[in-house]
Amino acid sequence: MTLRAPLLIWFSTLLLSTCKAHLPEQTSLFEVVKLTAPDGSARADFIPYGATATNFWVKDKTGKFRDILLGFDDHKLYQSDAAGHPYFGPIVGRYANRIRDGTFTIPISKNASGRNKFHVPLNEGNNTLHGGLDGYDRRTWTVSKKTASSVTFKLIDPDGAQGFPGTVITSVTYTLDRHSTWHISINSIATKQTPIMLSGHHYWNFEAYQETQDLIGHHAQFAASKFVATDGQLIPTGKLTDVSRTPLDFRQAKSIGASINATAAEEYCGTGCIGFDNCWLFDKNDFKKPVFSIWSVNSGIKLEIITNQPALQIYSCNGIFNPALPIPRKKTQGGPLTTYTDHSCVVIESESIIDAINNPEFGVNQIYGPERSYNWESSYIFSTLK
Ligand SMILES: *[C@@H]1O[C@H](CO)[C@@H](O)[C@H](O)[C@H]1NC(C)=O
Ligand SMILES: *[C@@H]1O[C@H](CO)[C@@H](O)[C@H](O)[C@H]1NC(C)=O
Ligand SMILES: *[C@@H]1O[C@H](CO)[C@@H](O)[C@H](O)[C@H]1NC(C)=O
Repeated sequence: MTLRAPLLIWFSTLLLSTCKAHLPEQTSLFEVVKLTAPDGSARADFIPYGATATNFWVKDKTGKFRDILLGFDDHKLYQSDAAGHPYFGPIVGRYANRIRDGTFTIPISKNASGRNKFHVPLNEGNNTLHGGLDGYDRRTWTVSKKTASSVTFKLIDPDGAQGFPGTVITSVTYTLDRHSTWHISINSIATKQTPIMLSGHHYWNFEAYQETQDLIGHHAQFAASKFVATDGQLIPTGKLTDVSRTPLDFRQAKSIGASINATAAEEYCGTGCIGFDNCWLFDKNDFKKPVFSIWSVNSGIKLEIITNQPALQIYSCNGIFNPALPIPRKKTQGGPLTTYTDHSCVVIESESIIDAINNPEFGVNQIYGPERSYNWESSYIFSTLK
């Protein structure tokens, strides 16, 4: 007895402190924020982990709501990587897409030599993807403002985190508006000169996997006559390629799925890869009219994007299926016994030009600091085909 009582007290104290330390944190990580557009035309769910969008419902051509955003039903999978880490729905940063050799200089230079050279963690071969091992998709953002149709998440990214200079404070506001419109507004301020390139990394299937399991019925149209030439590791070579006579020409509307096989010969998405994983430059963008449209001829759901960004990355889910770690689909998309398969979804990222910090010839300034804040704006406008 004399031994057991203190042990019991010790044990329950341990339990209590364990709960105190972990429970509130766990709750806030995955606490679901539900938004509805004022006219009920769209609904969406978000979690603070990665400022991630987990579900997005709009009406199809028959007036039925479908959840057209890919994700995990089990929110713990966003953090645990037990089904891989596809970057389902978060904000990616501090620098989206790849940084060649995980190095850059400030001011920027072609071969990242000399002083003011920065090293960030390599997490994809010899390069850095989406901000390193601990990108913004893995941070717990805090909810700083919330209404029935809008939420603001905030993140403080400390000076030196992942090797980047300067503290960066970022706010992302997601707002659902009338006529099934999703506004995303991202603002960052930095305490030192540092590269910033952010984007929303959303996987879509505009049929919610109901009519088909591929992208044949998904069509896209956008006026972009150049894309960023990349090597076998998807690292920009510094050149831009004309889309004419390539499968990357979407200036006239065409099926995405039906264009995928034609990418095989040139390996546009990297060594041994078939599909799209490319960055296109918009020919013209006045930030007033949509620069990109995509729709499913089957569900009738259409998305048009208005953005202040000069470029767009499209990834056609090449290699999303890993037999060792198959990703269970959400229930709203036919899961959990079915899995997400290759070439059955698209990631659409409005963004700046990829790895421009190692390619001065692109002529874009992605270095921000106290005198220059970062601003990313996009409106995703959903409608149905007539
Ligand atoms: C950068 O390095 C590559 C290969 O290492 C070399 O071919 C190229 O000339 C260098 N460019 C500059 C601007 O120094
Ligand atoms: C990384 O770089 C090393 C040394 O240059 C090279 O041997 C290796 O093959 C590279 N790895 C990849 C995945 O490209
Ligand atoms: C693409 O190629 C695969 C493998 O050869 C084939 O099964 C598929 O039907 C082709 N898709 C289209 C749209 O032609």
